[in-house]
Amino acid sequence: MIKEIKNICCLGAGYVGGPTMSVIADKCPAIDVNVVDINPNRIEKWNNPNLSDLPIFEPGLYEILKKCLNRNLFFSSDIKEKIANADMVFISVNSPTKLKGIGAGMACDIKWIELSARQIAKYSRGNTIVVEKSTVPVGTAEIIKKILKESQEEDYKNNIDQKTFSILSNPEFLSEGSAINDLCNPDRILIGGDNEESIKALENIYLNWIEEKKILRTNLWSSELSKLTANAFLAQRISSINSIGAICELSGANINEVSKAIGMDSRLGSKFLQSGPGFGGSCFPKDILNLIYIAKFYGLNEVASYWSTVIELNNWHKKRISQIIIQKLFGTISGKKIAILGFAFKANTNDTRESPAINICKDLIEEGSKLFIYDPQVSALQIEKDLDFKQIKNKSSEQSGWIFANSIEEASTNSDAIVVLTEWEEFKNLNWENLFKIMRKPSWIFDTRNISNTTRAKELGFNIWKVGNNNII
Ligand code: NAD
Ligand code: UGA
Repeated sequence: MIKEIKNICCLGAGYVGGPTMSVIADKCPAIDVNVVDINPNRIEKWNNPNLSDLPIFEPGLYEILKKCLNRNLFFSSDIKEKIANADMVFISVNSPTKLKGIGAGMACDIKWIELSARQIAKYSRGNTIVVEKSTVPVGTAEIIKKILKESQEEDYKNNIDQKTFSILSNPEFLSEGSAINDLCNPDRILIGGDNEESIKALENIYLNWIEEKKILRTNLWSSELSKLTANAFLAQRISSINSIGAICELSGANINEVSKAIGMDSRLGSKFLQSGPGFGGSCFPKDILNLIYIAKFYGLNEVASYWSTVIELNNWHKKRISQIIIQKLFGTISGKKIAILGFAFKANTNDTRESPAINICKDLIEEGSKLFIYDPQVSALQIEKDLDFKQIKNKSSEQSGWIFANSIEEASTNSDAIVVLTEWEEFKNLNWENLFKIMRKPSWIFDTRNISNTTRAKELGFNIWKVGNNNII
């Protein structure tokens, strides 16, 4: 019999758990959706009654929370009770790269997934459908199954009421910054599993707002591997276009023109061909590393080295940008003030995980410059953690390092250069007249996103470098 889902518990109130469960609560008012987290501070922020200072910034999220929070969407630290009451438990916890031990720097650390499985084994009651939403190495569902099976056997020995479980893989394909739209209008919903009734129960939730033809069923392992593969293919396109951008800069070609020309080929498509400072984010680097590790594990060394080049090119490209900035500023940036516009790994998010800005800023500080960093959504505290470097206290000191700026103008005053690192809307049409007055001469603009309209800047006498362009001086 197909189970009617009335109560959901989601483990993990992060960038995936928060928005995904908010959309489910919005689209399925008859279901109670409980999001739990082992981090009480995160839960406290989601429950802030003014909906201010939310743990994540995501356009459209606030409006949904306003409707659903404490109606049928609840954030809580009571993991035990929420799992016990749930018909379906989603695992949306972090799955980062391992930092030590076997496979360090490459393999996925599934310790939070394992902990989630143990919590479900301990607290669940009756029949529970477990949905793996985190991105995991292929085969992880087997580990979850084993943990749950062991707990069933223990209960049987101790004459405790039998619990039953079924496991599904349902990876998430949302992108940060457009998460709400991606969740409301996904290209596809992927469900991997072998239990027909559980698959149907999950499908029924999605059918509240998604057409049936968009729901794709596979076996568990294809589902897990498809998620890693999708991210690897997307990241590969970015490394490819950035590699061609480097040729453009030296040959007189223009990367926007090349992207457009190849993107019009329907076999290639136009998306993910935007040259930038290199890909960042919590997932592309870690998921490709995970794929490389899996290939090595199976003895497929050529496959591993093929995917390694995507990461190598990305690292080379970030370094290349720092070196160009230094070289253009007469080969030395010691004591020079540089305005950094944007620190998030992409626009419309406050997420800085693996942001290319981190490596580029570290390189520039290392060379002796003083950075004034402005990002409309990233806090000084976050930048301090990422750079692993405290802010300079005295703004007028000669010391190299960084200072938090509250506006574009504050960041740019007396600076030698502006470096655009994130494609925030407000960096597209900068007030060049004003900037030219307040900056030191010669004034430089380094646009690593190819987004700023520099026609007026050129007329005023700015020196301009744009990624992938035959640079206009
Ligand atoms: P995140 O770090 O923002 O959130 C994960 C949360 O899980 C944290 O708040 C953590 O405290 C909590 N947690 C860890 N173990 C727990 C447990 N046992 N019980 C309850 N809570 C627990 O991570 P995220 O960005 O939301 O990513 C989650 C997963 O989704 C990862 O596997 C990631 O690869 C995948 N993913 C992320 C994105 C994205 O855009 N961020 C998109 C698709 C898939
Ligand atoms: C990415 C995928 O797009 C999602 O489908 C996936 O669910 C998610 O990873 C995940 O598994 O976490 P996300 O990292 O949020 O989403 O953001 P993207 O829009 O993919 O951007 C990733 C990086 O690539 C950013 O640094 C972005 O600036 C860069 N990028 C993207 C480019 O440099 N050029 C492009 O054309 C597109």
